[in-house]
Amino acid sequence: MSIEQEVKKRRTFGIISHPDAGKTTLTEKLLLFGGAIRSAGTVKGKKTGKFATSDWMKVEQERGISVTSSVMQFDFDGFKINILDTPGHEDFSEDTYRTLMAVDSAVMVIDAAKGIEPQTLKLFKVCRMRGIPIFTFINKLDRVGKEPFELLEEIEETLDIETYPMTWPIGMGPSFFGIINRKDKTINPFKEDELLQLNDDYSLESPHPIEADSAFQNALEEFMLVEEAGDEFDADKIATGDLTPVFFGSALSTFGIEEFLDTYVDFAPSPMPRNTTEESKVAPTDEAFRGFIFKIQANMDPRHRDRIAFLRVVSGKFERGMDTTLARTSKKHKITRATMFMADDKETVNEAYAGDIIGLYDTGNFQIGDTLYGQNGKVTFEALPQFTPELFMKVSAKNVMKQKHFYKGIEQLVQEGAIQYYKTVHTNQPILGAVGQLQFEVFEHRMKHEYNTDIIMEPIGKKIARWVENQDDIKDAMSTSRSNLVLDRYDNKVFLFENEFATRWFSEKYPEIKLYNLL
Ligand code: G4P
Repeated sequence: MSIEQEVKKRRTFGIISHPDAGKTTLTEKLLLFGGAIRSAGTVKGKKTGKFATSDWMKVEQERGISVTSSVMQFDFDGFKINILDTPGHEDFSEDTYRTLMAVDSAVMVIDAAKGIEPQTLKLFKVCRMRGIPIFTFINKLDRVGKEPFELLEEIEETLDIETYPMTWPIGMGPSFFGIINRKDKTINPFKEDELLQLNDDYSLESPHPIEADSAFQNALEEFMLVEEAGDEFDADKIATGDLTPVFFGSALSTFGIEEFLDTYVDFAPSPMPRNTTEESKVAPTDEAFRGFIFKIQANMDPRHRDRIAFLRVVSGKFERGMDTTLARTSKKHKITRATMFMADDKETVNEAYAGDIIGLYDTGNFQIGDTLYGQNGKVTFEALPQFTPELFMKVSAKNVMKQKHFYKGIEQLVQEGAIQYYKTVHTNQPILGAVGQLQFEVFEHRMKHEYNTDIIMEPIGKKIARWVENQDDIKDAMSTSRSNLVLDRYDNKVFLFENEFATRWFSEKYPEIKLYNLL
C-alpha cells in the first residue's frame, strides 16, 4: 500500500473528559469494536484496582499502566484508529496537555447528569487553541440526566462552539427507549435488536407500541425542532473545531458507539501536516520519515533505568532498524527497539506511518519536543507550547551538601518537561510550577531515585501566573505577597497572583504593565 493510502486510513484522537464521565468505559468499548481486546475490563488503569496518587510510581512500575493505556490502536471499517490517553484528575499533568499536541481530533465525553465539568473545560480549551475537530459523546443515557436541549445549550454557551446532534435520545434513565440516527432516520432501540424506521413525516414506518408513549412523542417533537431550527451541518466547521457533532449513548451498555464510530471515521481528519521552525509544513504523505516526541515515560523497568519516548509519526514510513537523526543534536540514532501499544499488549513495530505513535527505548538522549528524521528528511518541528502552571511549590535540598545533585536534577527534569522551574528575583529561591499535583510527586520521586537527593517541598498553593510584555517597566514595589514577582527558566519576569481579584487590582493600579498568560 502506498504512503498516501496508509495515511488516509489513519485517525488519531484523544479523549477529553472529567473523571468518572466514562472515558475508560468508552475506550474499552471502542477497542472491543475494533477487536483489539477480547473482553471488557482489560483496559488497564483504575479498573484493575483503585490506587492513590502516592502509589503512582510503584503501580506504574509494577504494571506499566500508563504505558499500556497511553496509546492504543484498533481497526474499524478499514481504518486504523489510534487513541491517546489523556489522564484524568490524579494523573493530571502537563503530559495530559502535551498529548493533545499529538492528536488530530478529540472526543469529548460528557456525563449527561453532570454536563460540562472543570477538567473537560480545561482540556477543551487546549483543543480549541489547536483548532482541531472535537466530537462529543454524551454518556450515561441509561440514567436520568439533564435534558438534551439543556446539555446542548450548556456546551454551546460554556465552550463557545456550535453543536450538531448526529443522534437524538428518546427518553432517559428507566424510560430510555433508544436513539434516532439523524443520517438515515432510523431508531436504534436500547433494549430491542431490530432498528425502526422513521418516514419523512416523522411517523414510524411500521407500527410499534412505543408510539403511544409520551416520552417518544416528546422526543420526536424535539427531533423535528432540531432538524428545522438547529445549526446546519457544516463539515468545514467541524474541521476547524467550530462545530461539534454530538452523539448520545451509554458506553457501559455499548450503546450509541457504532453510530459514533461511523461518523467519526468519516469526518475526523486523517493525519494533518505539521509546522516546522523553517515555516514550511511537513505533509503526512511526504516520503521522508519524521516525527516528534511529545511524552517521555521514565523508569519503566526499575532494573534497567530506561525510558520510553513517545513519538508521533508526522510523515513517511517508519521502519524498524532505520537510521534517524535527532534534529537538536544532529546525532544519528538507529532505531532498533520500538514498540506500539495494544490494550493488553505491547508489540514490536516493524513499520508505522503518519498518525501512529511509537515508543522508542531511550537511554537519556531524547527530550520532549525533539524532532527525529530519516534520510532526506531534515527539519525541526515547532516547539511544543509551554503551559501556564497553576500550582506552585518552594523546593530545596534536604541536605545542603547535595546542592550540585539538586540543581543537576532540576535542570534535567525541567528540560524533560516534567516540571517548570522558577526562582524568586533577589533570593534565587527555587519554585516549581505544575498544572497537576502529580508532577510534584513524580519530581520528588525521581530526585530521590535518579539524583539521589531528598528534597523539601513547601506548597505555596494555587497561583495565577502572568508573564509581562514590558519587562523593563517592572519595579520592585510591584512585588508583594499577593503579586509575587519571580523569574522563569529563561529569566523572564512572571507575576504569581494570589487570585483573580489580585490580578485585576494589579492591572488597575499599573495599567502600563501588559500581562499575558501562556496556554
Ligand atoms: P472515567 O474513565 O472517565 O473516569 O470513567 P469510567 O469509564 O471509569 O466510568 C466511571 C463510572 O461510570 C464507572 O462506574 C462506570 O461503570 C460508569 N459508567 C460509564 N459509562 C456508563 C454508562 O453509560 N452508564 C452508566 N450508568 N454508568 C456508566 P463504577 O464501575 O461503578 O466505578 P466507580 O464509579 O466506582 O468509579
